[in-house]
Amino acid sequence: MFILAESPAAQLVSPESGGNLALHQSLATIAYVAAAVLFIFSLGGLANQESARRGNLYGIAGMILAILATVYGYMQAGFAPMILAIVPAVIIGAILAARVPMTGMPELVAMLHSFVGLAAVLVGISSHIEPGVHVEAGKELVHAIEIFIGVFIGAVTFTGSILAFLKLRGSVSGTPVTLPGRHWINLSMLVGCGLLGVWFCQSGHYPGGMLPLLLMTLIACVIGVHIVIAIGGADMPVVVSMLNSYSGWAAAAAGFMLKNHLLIVTGALVGSSGAILSYIMCAAMNRSFLSVILGGFGTSGGTSSQTVEGTVTEFSVEDTVQLLRDAKQIVIVPGYGMAVAQAQHSLAEVVKTLSGLGKQVRFAIHPVAGRLPGHMNVLLAEASIPYDVVLEMDEINDDMPDTDAILVIGANDIVNPAAMEDPCSPIAGMPVIEVWKAGTVVVMKRGMATGYAGVDNPLFYKDNTQMLFGDAKTNVDLILQQLRS
Ligand code: TAP
Repeated sequence: MFILAESPAAQLVSPESGGNLALHQSLATIAYVAAAVLFIFSLGGLANQESARRGNLYGIAGMILAILATVYGYMQAGFAPMILAIVPAVIIGAILAARVPMTGMPELVAMLHSFVGLAAVLVGISSHIEPGVHVEAGKELVHAIEIFIGVFIGAVTFTGSILAFLKLRGSVSGTPVTLPGRHWINLSMLVGCGLLGVWFCQSGHYPGGMLPLLLMTLIACVIGVHIVIAIGGADMPVVVSMLNSYSGWAAAAAGFMLKNHLLIVTGALVGSSGAILSYIMCAAMNRSFLSVILGGFGTSGGTSSQTVEGTVTEFSVEDTVQLLRDAKQIVIVPGYGMAVAQAQHSLAEVVKTLSGLGKQVRFAIHPVAGRLPGHMNVLLAEASIPYDVVLEMDEINDDMPDTDAILVIGANDIVNPAAMEDPCSPIAGMPVIEVWKAGTVVVMKRGMATGYAGVDNPLFYKDNTQMLFGDAKTNVDLILQQLRS
């Protein structure tokens, strides 16, 4: 999110501009209200696949309007610094966004959240040194609380997001690190920050208050790391959406410090929608919302007790094609490997061909398949696969026993029966797509590697499971070729 500088035109536009002041104020207010409305439309549009593209366009329009209004408000204070800040940022952002592969999106998002957190910290500290906005007499305490809370949320978001970025990138192990007595550590740090807050509020103007503010920033940075380090493996999607929410609240806090109403509204929208998304994801993964936002509170951090044993049986492309020809009801479960292999376009052709042969072909989508919310839906939509054959896990799980053939394409954790059968598994309790209940399951992956959560998968050893090894795209292409011949 772009941190907009302080808004009220009365403060941005020199009072010397006399008669123009009212006009500037009105234009800035109109632009800010319009941008806020566009952001709300954007969120509404993103709620379903058909309107998602339109939702994105509203968001882009709202952000352009907000930036233009801010630049306009600053014109008389000096145009050059704004341009110097915005132009390189726009270029770097555009290059990064164009280069990032879909599978790298969560890392990019985590990195962007860290920028919002850092911006809130810097805005807070500079607001204390030089308020920049007029603080009414008697409101100093409120302003001090705004600064303190803004810097706190910003610092937690900053370090938490950097650690999430490193975990998602694989630079830091994804295994949860749970220190003994971690909840007491968190509680002590929170109490420490509270006491520093009291000291800060009593310290008055700068240079007073700097020491408690900086000490709290340091502790909040440690809290950010400590919360995220305790969460790992399959729970990482929730961390990303939780940090998304924190970044929204950090931006809203910056809005309070700068008296920028648009920043408050936008931050609150991001904060609350991120919190709702985290809640939905927690519900989908059978995790306690509180446990995740408090850094793994109440989780066992377990490691599986069961060693997976058995024989793996291998299928060839020819066997797979024969199975598909014989089947009436077919379900495809795509996962991260399909995204890596970019197999969705060939898969769309396979679906067309099979439908032409009179088969019922449907997709089963797990809420955390891939590496970002809605990852599979976006890829399937990109390949023009009709929405009506793409079903959510809950909509299709009951149909598994009546399904003749299942193709699991580059998915692993989301079809792991250990989540239901092994209470000590790190993914225990996470709902999964119960593919093993179907007639025959063909798992397409390159080898026997584990998935994101690093957990062995007993599915591969079940009697009705056949492994088709190799790159997902290569094998889907071969299946298509043989189905057509
Ligand atoms: P994973 O469990 O990560 O499994 C993907 C499998 O794809 C791997 O086991 C890999 O096995 C295979 N693969 C990789 N490249 C391939 C290729 N070119 N061709 C064929 N197979 C390939 O994926 P999933 O089942 O989609 O589960 C998602 C996991 O990511 C969950 O644990 C989830 O919590 C986590 N996560 C999700 C998100 C969101 S929001 N969706 C964000 C962060 C993390 P081989 O190496 O043997 O081929």
